[in-house]
Amino acid sequence: DRPDAFQVPLPRPAVLKPVRSDASSDYYEITQQVAKLEILPGVTTEAWTYGGTFPGPTIVARSGRAVVVKHRNELPVPSVVHLHGGHTPADSDGYPADLLLPVGSTDAGQGMPDMADMPGMAPGAGRNAVGERTHTYPGRQRAATLWYHDHRMGFTGPGVWRGLAGFHLVHDDEEDALPLPRGERDLPLMIADRSFAADGSFHYPAADPTLARPGVESGYLNGVLGDVILVNGAPWPRHDVDRAHYRLRLLNASNTRPYRLELDPPPDGGDAFVQIGSDGGLLAAPVGHDAVEIAPAERFDVVVDFSRYAPGTRVRMLNRFGSDRTAEVMRFDVSARPVADDARVPDTLSALPALDPAAATVTRDFAFRRSRGDGWTINGDPYQPGRDVAAPALGATELWRFTSDLHHPVHVHLDQFQVLRRNGKDPGPYDAGWKDTVDLRPAEAVEVLVRFTDYPGTYMLHCHNLEHEDMAMMADFTVT
Ligand code: C2O
Ligand code: CU
Repeated sequence: DRPDAFQVPLPRPAVLKPVRSDASSDYYEITQQVAKLEILPGVTTEAWTYGGTFPGPTIVARSGRAVVVKHRNELPVPSVVHLHGGHTPADSDGYPADLLLPVGSTDAGQGMPDMADMPGMAPGAGRNAVGERTHTYPGRQRAATLWYHDHRMGFTGPGVWRGLAGFHLVHDDEEDALPLPRGERDLPLMIADRSFAADGSFHYPAADPTLARPGVESGYLNGVLGDVILVNGAPWPRHDVDRAHYRLRLLNASNTRPYRLELDPPPDGGDAFVQIGSDGGLLAAPVGHDAVEIAPAERFDVVVDFSRYAPGTRVRMLNRFGSDRTAEVMRFDVSARPVADDARVPDTLSALPALDPAAATVTRDFAFRRSRGDGWTINGDPYQPGRDVAAPALGATELWRFTSDLHHPVHVHLDQFQVLRRNGKDPGPYDAGWKDTVDLRPAEAVEVLVRFTDYPGTYMLHCHNLEHEDMAMMADFTVT
């Protein structure tokens, strides 16, 4: 039985403490481990976690300082951690075939999925490690809401579904100088749907329950949807808020489900949400929205002014794309106590340089389509590690054009991009700023400008519907 909504308090994921710091870097350690969690009240759920919690611990980084994370794999399966939105050298990015095998594994060559019935998905020559692997994130990027999650080839869907996801927040001087809400009033919100079996375990319809082979039961080719909405790992939580401005860092960490978030009741006058940031950090200027449409892996940083509600108002955050219970997300209970609040949203947020379309010397087309068999393709091909679909030159600006048959949130590693056109027209209301994931709805064409900087090497572009990704809607590109 699913719990009543708005009973469980909203958890705030703990901030991870560095094990040490020096002049340039902060060093962290995370153990990937099985943990028994109470997600549904009174029910035990066995999860795969970063550090024993879901979401995993939040890493708080400073632009210009390196974050070095040593991951130790005590899970029963291989793993690959990726910092989503990170500007990361290739050997730390979490290439999906670079497996981190569980502690004590004796055969460093094991662990590649059996791709026998997934044409084209031959095992690649991944750089496997046993037990521990250290990822270095140099921090050459601006303030932004990033997240880290599992990226194991063929099994990202079940890995993230079972709990392998956490926040990684970057701060910088530019953002700190703005009078935005902070501290308790800066709330990361990881929204993710999940399903539970009668015994409390996560229910994931893997074609092979032992996860030796990727893929889902035939009814789930389009992706896996859950019937319980979790925010920061709690089902339909509630949160007490002051009559003040709050920054909500909205992250859709669902495998497949898109949301259209609204506040009910809407505030008195003005926009419900004032967007200040996108995947890649601050916008040039705030953008008001009555609703926020957020596809898997996207982030929207918004400010909500709860002082526009009467004391005692219960404000539900709804999902207008959902039905029945998936139409509800969480509730904010507006307190009556008088508070001080000097936060506000300035008219100018950031000097955001626009990439120049005239500078784009190369145009590339990427068609995201279902294959004739049971899988998904980019330009007609299923993923094959080691086969490049593009070799952009370091520092050059390129125009990438994504087209879709169905719904595909398209994600590019290494650098953020800017949306130039959607269906031949101006960018849509949710396309502003630096993006690393852009939502393609059925039969759309989105053109983006991208410039790969600092780090040559092999990276990925893929659909972030995790079932599409696992069923081969992914491609390598190598920056040269
Ligand atoms: Cu969020 Cu390639 O992943
Ligand atoms: Cu897709």
